[in-house]
Amino acid sequence: MNILDLDRPIWFMRQAGRHLPEYNKIRVRKKNFLEFCFDYESIVTSTLQPIKRYDLDCAIIFSDILVIPYILNQRVDFIKGIGPNLELLEMDELLNLTLNQKKLEDLKNCYNAIREIRKLLHKNKCLIGFCGAPWTVACYMVDGNSKNGFIRTKKLMRSEKPWLIKLLRKIVDVSTEHLMNQYKSGCDTLMIFESWAACVDFNEYNDFLYEPVEKIINNLRSMNVDVPIIVFPKGVGEKIIDYVNHVSADIISIDNQMNMNWVIKNINRNVVLQGNIDPKVLLNGGEILEKNVKELLKIVKGRKHIFNLGHGILPETPVENVQKIIDMIRLQK
Ligand code: CP3
Repeated sequence: MNILDLDRPIWFMRQAGRHLPEYNKIRVRKKNFLEFCFDYESIVTSTLQPIKRYDLDCAIIFSDILVIPYILNQRVDFIKGIGPNLELLEMDELLNLTLNQKKLEDLKNCYNAIREIRKLLHKNKCLIGFCGAPWTVACYMVDGNSKNGFIRTKKLMRSEKPWLIKLLRKIVDVSTEHLMNQYKSGCDTLMIFESWAACVDFNEYNDFLYEPVEKIINNLRSMNVDVPIIVFPKGVGEKIIDYVNHVSADIISIDNQMNMNWVIKNINRNVVLQGNIDPKVLLNGGEILEKNVKELLKIVKGRKHIFNLGHGILPETPVENVQKIIDMIRLQK
């Protein structure tokens, strides 16, 4: 299904994952998170779990943005309760990384799972494939983790710009291929997550944010990929106006720091908006959640809009709160 043909579709970033008891139940079958991410059955089941429970309009493939450094043969670990940790490499080692055929085989399980999910998913529902934006993936590849606010990446952005641009180009190529494979396997919507956009210096947005993402989009379009593309430039603030002028995505996902009233006034009508309930408001529920949802629906009335959060669902979020938000939107439609 084309997401743009649906009337205010609803889905949630990180809908497949830890807030669902049924996910936590199957997650324990694999010790290692990446092992789970590359397991055909686990991908199919966890992708469909939120659709079964909430009847959402879109499913997002259960995977992670860090599969890209993994297939480039950089060691990636997920440490329980902390998050990802990548092997620290020297600058030349990073540039010399190449695709590892054996690890690519792991990703084939993901593409095969997409084929199966597409068969199992009702034709009126969308299937979203995704990758991280090159800058965000580079942040993890260069710094290893987010503990120190990506200080090494930021330093190299200033002192070794040509080197970092070369690294981004490598990520552009692999990410294009990865999105292309997800599309060919049955994804009808593609999303690019730029979670760490805010780490880029304002005067460097063009080279580190716009250019690499635009290149991926142009690569896909030149290969006749005609499905809607969503971008999520988290933390760019008012630079979002500039962002939509430089990146030709169909849909822009708005983070929860942004005022949707301001966004509506300042972003061109031909860009579809997605977002932007605060995940903490969803976590806490109650009257404030109701008020926020009502307000958002009022603001986006008459505008093409995909209902979502401003970032991922928090693991402690009660399923009742998620159900409540869905019921509210469906009642008001
Ligand atoms: O439901 C979905 O959204 C589909 C699956 C999905 C995951 N990660 C599964 C996951 C998606 C779309 C992502 C994207 C992702 N991964 C991003 C971009 C979006 C964002 O949240 O900003 C980033 C930066 C990552 C990297 C990553 N993966 C981090 C920082 C972490 C640890 C923090 C955390 O949220 O746990 C992960 C692990 C991860 N990715 C989990 C899940 C369900 C939790 C691990 C587990 O279940 O053991």
